[in-house]
Amino acid sequence: MLLAFDDDGPGPVVVLLHGFPLDRSMWSHQRSSVGSIYRVIAPDLRGHGTSAAPEGIYAVDAMADDVIETLDALQLTGPVVFGGLSMGGYVALSIATRFPDRVKGLILMSTRAAGDSPAMARDRAEQAAAIEASGDAEPVIAKMLLRLFAPSTSERHPEMLSRIHHQMSKTPARAVAGTLRGLAARPDRTADLARIAAPALVLAGLEDQIVGVEEARAMAESLPNARLVTIPGAGHLTPLENPEATDAALLEFLREGW
Ligand code: MLT
Repeated sequence: MLLAFDDDGPGPVVVLLHGFPLDRSMWSHQRSSVGSIYRVIAPDLRGHGTSAAPEGIYAVDAMADDVIETLDALQLTGPVVFGGLSMGGYVALSIATRFPDRVKGLILMSTRAAGDSPAMARDRAEQAAAIEASGDAEPVIAKMLLRLFAPSTSERHPEMLSRIHHQMSKTPARAVAGTLRGLAARPDRTADLARIAAPALVLAGLEDQIVGVEEARAMAESLPNARLVTIPGAGHLTPLENPEATDAALLEFLREGW
């Protein structure tokens, strides 16, 4: 499926993949900072933002195929840098594992290689079933919202929470349910990490309530060519909660050029 996307800036391509259930607008800081030096392509993954939202299960590998198809349509068939946050990181790892020739560098933000535990997968299946029965994703979204942010962000920047809540609420209920089912079924890529040769940056918010710093560190250590950078004053949404530190880490990594 061809995706909707933003495409800004000169220079080498950096593809940024958003988290769940957000959309490409979460990269607004990075479009101007990173996008002043690099060509930032930020798609809306299927079901999110202005991309199409089909019925069914949104497998992570299908989301990755959409990204590759969209880059092909732009005639960008050589290796580029992929950066993904959380679900976007799962998609970036799918690309790195299944299309290694397309990956020049990898940026993994607030994400993990492991699949869902049985309890997590069950929880997602229950949430998906509730959404499918009611046609309303709002209770699931409301529950998710606070966990996305560092407690200090929730306290100091309630307007940021409102903005993200609004963004999440625009995702159609069937897309939230389809994504929950796809995330629950995603493969565990832990064993694949050792085969990802591309240089990688792993970013972790010091106050992330979803992916802890120790898990991010273990992922960085399992990748042959990776480093971990921690972001203070940020939870799961580092690019929004501390854009200055996030952008500095991204630009330092990208400047190396390899
Ligand atoms: C995300 O931010 O994309 C989600 O936390 C991913 C997930 O629920 O596994």
